[in-house]
Amino acid sequence: MNWTRKKLIKKYLEFFKSKSHKEIPNVSLVPENDPTVLFNTAGMQQLVPFLLGQPHPLGKKLVNNQKCIRTKDIEEVGDTTHHTFFEMLGNWSLGDYFKKGAIEMSFEFLTKNLKIPKERLAVTCFKGNRNSPRDEESAKIWISLGIIKERIVFLPKEDNFWGPAGQTGPCGPSTEIFYWKLKDVPAPKEFDSDDENWVEIWNDVLMEYVKENKGNYNLSKQKNVDTGMGVERTIAILNGLEDDYLTETFKPIIEKIEKLSGKKYSENKKAMRIIADHIKAAVFIIADSVSPSNAEQGYVLRRLIRRLIRYGRELGIQNFTSKIAEPVFSIYDDYSELQKNKKQILQELEKEEENFNLTLEKGLSKFNKISRNKKEISGEEAFLLYQSYGFPLEMTIELAKEKNIKVDEKEFEKEFKKHQKLSRTASVGKFKSGLADSSEGTTKLHTATHLLLAALKKVLKNDSIIQKGSNITPERLRLDFSFSRKLTKEELKKVEDLVNVQIQKSCKVVREEMSLEQAKKKGAIGIFDEKYNGRVSVYSVEDFSKEICAGPHIQNTKELGKFKIKKESSSSAGVRRIKGILI
Ligand code: SER
Repeated sequence: MNWTRKKLIKKYLEFFKSKSHKEIPNVSLVPENDPTVLFNTAGMQQLVPFLLGQPHPLGKKLVNNQKCIRTKDIEEVGDTTHHTFFEMLGNWSLGDYFKKGAIEMSFEFLTKNLKIPKERLAVTCFKGNRNSPRDEESAKIWISLGIIKERIVFLPKEDNFWGPAGQTGPCGPSTEIFYWKLKDVPAPKEFDSDDENWVEIWNDVLMEYVKENKGNYNLSKQKNVDTGMGVERTIAILNGLEDDYLTETFKPIIEKIEKLSGKKYSENKKAMRIIADHIKAAVFIIADSVSPSNAEQGYVLRRLIRRLIRYGRELGIQNFTSKIAEPVFSIYDDYSELQKNKKQILQELEKEEENFNLTLEKGLSKFNKISRNKKEISGEEAFLLYQSYGFPLEMTIELAKEKNIKVDEKEFEKEFKKHQKLSRTASVGKFKSGLADSSEGTTKLHTATHLLLAALKKVLKNDSIIQKGSNITPERLRLDFSFSRKLTKEELKKVEDLVNVQIQKSCKVVREEMSLEQAKKKGAIGIFDEKYNGRVSVYSVEDFSKEICAGPHIQNTKELGKFKIKKESSSSAGVRRIKGILI
């Protein structure tokens, strides 16, 4: 049987729906309410507030297929199973079923619905440490289902403990499911998790702890399940393919690269995999309204595009990005954001390629000059390559590695700070960052953002002002809103004062759940998309602010202290940007 991605996704969603799960949407790659990460790295990202205990409008059992970007493993891209863009199937229990339910359903889906013989499966469980005991319970459940004990290995925290999402929050041991991928060789009786023929296909995280501020792990009130199954890997194994790039999710892109370069995949695997992976990620990122730039998501995008262009050079191809992007639109014809924005996506790719082409050649010859007969490239030199030739630091490091040379990254950072062109912590740092942080600081600033937006509408007497973007770190908020001119000093002062009046009034922040219709009727602002089948949560601060929002928020405005606007500037045409802090 030929397993397509659509078929696997459908089967998965149907299976969990038949077990009373409700489907949550496949949301934008850029998290709406989680400013601590640049991209969704897992299906659970949109669920952080609900994993922390807030009731979800759709109930306690959820399922979805989520597009993800994970750049942490970017250096692994080039092997058979690592990707920066992938689709993740996931099911969640928010305080409902736990280990038994999760493991039994995973097993049933794999063996009955996907018809994988249990003889080809093996699992890992948590070995235990001083915070959390060895997970014998999960192992017993696997044994009760017919997984023999030789196929269960116990691994330490690095492998089998997931989370918390941020510094603090829900976390717990995980049990991971592996598949023996060699078609003609029977799976060995004993499971060796280091043997690459065992491919991890599904991760069941059993969240029974909350990590507190001081670093201690407490048993949580609500036990959650968070699972994730990689679509590309799973269809590869179901179709008996040894390499994800041979599945329908990559093959058309690889074929296009072969055609353009006149070279064979079998002889150029690494470069072609990197190009195919990065172009797909770039197309999806642009489709979610990101353009190449020197900051945040835009910088990640720039690096992906520039990296793939460089690998294209190795294959002897130039001016090719929009051509190899074409197949991505056909593979993912079920993503409307791709189809709708196709023209603009291809233009963005071409523009970035043109820009980079202007300096790439010169940059490469500069690099060769700099690196000749050297053991190390100085930070100053790496910075020159960055600033004058558009070489992302990682690209210089990668080029240097090929010649066995080091790059002084620390000095690069110093140079970087000196020039203050962009904040490395805000962009490059986050390129590798982990998951969401619902820290006190960000939660407070989240509520302050609602107050600020409401105050802007009132002071500027303009009800059509809408939020165009928000980015919150534990230190500051940044709100982009629609407005066509610079605000005056007086206006800014009035806005700031109005926010502070709400803080001083010690208003309760109330969360209500209602239908989208009701929310509209009550005058709530926010994104009125049909998320959650029309059920939404609305946060109100008396009759001052009412917004559809997933949270999290503080409970009373008095917790905010004092609000201060630090800067007002233009963000883009018709959009202003305010940065503010709480003191
Ligand atoms: N959050 C877990 C993971 O990323 C399960 O999806 O692996």
